[in-house]
Amino acid sequence: MLKTLKKFYWFLFRHKKALSVFIFTLTAATILENISPYIYKLLIDAIPSQNYQLLLKIAILFVGIKIAVNFLTALSDYLGDKVLIPASKEARIAVFRRILDLDFGFHTNKNTGSLISAFKRGDSAFFALFQSLNREIFRILISLLVVLFFFIRIAPSLAFLMLLISLANTFVSWRLIKFNLKKRASFNKAEDKVSGIISDNLINYETIKLFAREEKEENRLKEEFKGWTDKLWQYANSFRLMDIIVGTLSNLAILTAFWIVIRKLVNGEISAGDLVMVSSFVTSFYYQFFSLLYRLRAIAKSYIDIQHYFSVFNTDVLIKDPDKPVKIKDIKGDIRFEKVSFSYPENKENVLTNINFHVKPGESAAFVGRSGAGKTTIIKLLLRFHDVTKGRILIDGIDIRNISQSQLRSFIGIVPQEPILFNETIGFNIAYGNDQATQEEVIKAAKMANLHQFIESLPQKYDMPVGERGVKLSGGQRQRLAIARVLLNDPKIIIFDEATSNLDPESEALIQDALWKIAKSKTVLIIAHRLSTVKQVDKILVLDNGQVVESGPHKKLIGKKQLYHHFWQLQSTGRNGQEANLLT
Ligand SMILES: Nc1ncnc2c1ncn2[C@@H]1O[C@H](COP(=O)(O)OP(=O)(O)OP(=O)(O)O)[C@@H](O)[C@H]1O
Ligand SMILES: [Mg+2]
Repeated sequence: MLKTLKKFYWFLFRHKKALSVFIFTLTAATILENISPYIYKLLIDAIPSQNYQLLLKIAILFVGIKIAVNFLTALSDYLGDKVLIPASKEARIAVFRRILDLDFGFHTNKNTGSLISAFKRGDSAFFALFQSLNREIFRILISLLVVLFFFIRIAPSLAFLMLLISLANTFVSWRLIKFNLKKRASFNKAEDKVSGIISDNLINYETIKLFAREEKEENRLKEEFKGWTDKLWQYANSFRLMDIIVGTLSNLAILTAFWIVIRKLVNGEISAGDLVMVSSFVTSFYYQFFSLLYRLRAIAKSYIDIQHYFSVFNTDVLIKDPDKPVKIKDIKGDIRFEKVSFSYPENKENVLTNINFHVKPGESAAFVGRSGAGKTTIIKLLLRFHDVTKGRILIDGIDIRNISQSQLRSFIGIVPQEPILFNETIGFNIAYGNDQATQEEVIKAAKMANLHQFIESLPQKYDMPVGERGVKLSGGQRQRLAIARVLLNDPKIIIFDEATSNLDPESEALIQDALWKIAKSKTVLIIAHRLSTVKQVDKILVLDNGQVVESGPHKKLIGKKQLYHHFWQLQSTGRNGQEANLLT
């Protein structure tokens, strides 16, 4: 519990100065606001004296206090915002940054819709928690202290009664709030599931339309809402229970307080002014207490929301940067896998077993194998998206676990299997990763990737937005854009994961031409199902079931008449006429 509050206050304490002035003005405003009943008492007690000057003074004091309260409250509201607005912004940025820093393990298991729903709830809870804890609860506590101060002076028994009731009420409230918190947490889970389904539908709209599943999806959502409704009712009803129990306790307290003061008045121990003051205090005490309860409930709700919001800070990052990373200016591009085995965290079975290979600077290597053989996984390990289970990976002789991840990745450019783009312009997406790139360089890269002509044909040219995830571009255009992006970054190691799979034979030939031109001084890793692409690499590694079963140049492997030869045979004599033509 304290961990979340600590984090919350950590963001607020970054604005210490404004925070302390805010607390000071709020305390002053609250004390002044709460002494009105005492002024009534002064007024009533002064009436029999018929001293008009004194009465006037008291009236002026009364009005003066009201004006001061008004002014101080506005000032404290302003100062509170001076703390709250920047702190909430900083919290939001910190959570965002943390999510970006979390590993692939976290991201492959997350549900974007649920995460956004928790994120939004957390952000509003930050405001709500500040309002409840630092404004309202604080004011209520100060008010109670003021009331207590005057009660002790009139009758200690009154103060004692008030304290007793406060403690009893707090105890009961606390138990009820705990119950309420549980209900809130389970409602939140249901809410996140609903959001998850909605966002999954928004992302997969194409598949839904393709299979005409609109009604089925609506029903899936309706089904999820059943649990949601139950949980919301349980949560709402837990409030009613609190209202009844705490209301009864408070009413009993008021009754007892009246009984005490009336007896004292009858016995002549206190003045009529005291009676007015006490009844005014008691009534306000009643409201204060109720608002305390409401506030506690609000705090409980915000607390659960913010706990979930901040939970990303407690999620462990598995892939850590070394304490003292080896700093490298530039690399030659030597890649070595030594006895590498790997299994994904949720599945203990090895995806890769005892992988050994060496690609020298400037060499090219290709990975070939059946779908699911582990080709992309090798690349993910090289980029350190996951850590190897056994063995090690070396770049220029340095274990990649000793280099910072950002530096490691800056040496490597990848054209992924399915390039996903930002919902920004074509120009933005090409220049992504290279802030220094000039427009000329962007155009040059686009030309090399055989994309410039297409861009020029667009009405907005390089300023055309590509749509969410790049939907407005064809698969091949997206791939060529990803190629241009890598060319612009000019890394020492270039990886093509099925980079030309979405291209027509003509474009593929053009891209390959460009590829081999830039590959001259670079280490190139290629994954390709079309063997025509890999024919001219220095070394081909044939993967089967997560193991390297053959390796060597094209000619040698063809001569071996094993798996590679089998693939080659299938493609060159296969029914796919286009492939056959390409290879001949
Ligand atoms: N994030 C993941 N979590 C768990 N298992 C995974 C994950 N990614 C891939 N796998 C599994 O690892 C195995 C190898 O996958 P990988 O993507 O490396 O295959 P691939 O050789 O690139 O296949 P393709 O040619 O179809 O792209 C597959 O069985 C796959 O199901
Ligand atoms: Mg793959």
